[in-house]
Amino acid sequence: VTAEPSTRIRRAGPGDLEAYLDVVEAVASERRWIGYEPPLDREALAERYGRALGADTELRLVAAAGTATVGILNAEEYKGIVSFGMMLVPAWRGRGLGGKLLEELMRWARSRGAHKLTLQVWPHNTAAIALYERYGFVAEGRLRRHWRRKSGELWDAVVMGLVLDDG
Ligand SMILES: CC(C)(COP(=O)(O)OP(=O)(O)OC[C@H]1O[C@@H](n2cnc3c(N)ncnc32)[C@H](O)[C@@H]1OP(=O)(O)O)[C@@H](O)C(=O)NCCC(=O)NCCS
Repeated sequence: VTAEPSTRIRRAGPGDLEAYLDVVEAVASERRWIGYEPPLDREALAERYGRALGADTELRLVAAAGTATVGILNAEEYKGIVSFGMMLVPAWRGRGLGGKLLEELMRWARSRGAHKLTLQVWPHNTAAIALYERYGFVAEGRLRRHWRRKSGELWDAVVMGLVLDDG
């Protein structure tokens, strides 16, 4: 038997850039789970990544399995509202890493006193919606014919939110 590589969630650093972009590029190439579609503008994303690492209001996480980077999460806080996106390469879906990334995100959001998490998800992304619901997120509305895809189609997006401060 081959042992499962040990997995770990950690803050991304400058040295994670290429692997981070490789994950985004791999998931973008599936064309059905995230907003990005190929070809990815790696240069623009690299610049954005560099700025994010230096910003106190931003979070970049990587999920590592052994020495491989198999998932990422990006988040940004503005006026107590944290918007985020996350993704895992196909082989690492359905194995608990999405929850681990979310838990780290929630720790970060709480530690800075944010009152809410928010995200957008495609209506057909039942795996993602199930994960978010398990952590208490609720669907708050649907953006109709909102995002133009490279195919020319307009896709709806579901807005989901988790209020951290119910007091
Ligand atoms: C969305 C995502 C981050 C969820 O993380 P995850 O670690 O796979 O989450 P879980 O293991 O908790 O699985 C989530 C659901 O998918 C199901 N699932 C199981 N195996 C799966 C597989 N191989 N592929 C996809 N989903 C699977 C799980 O059963 C679970 O559904 P349930 O709660 O009804 O049981 C991950 O599937 C992913 O990266 N998908 C592609 C990118 C993406 O959609 N990002 C989110 C954009 S909003």
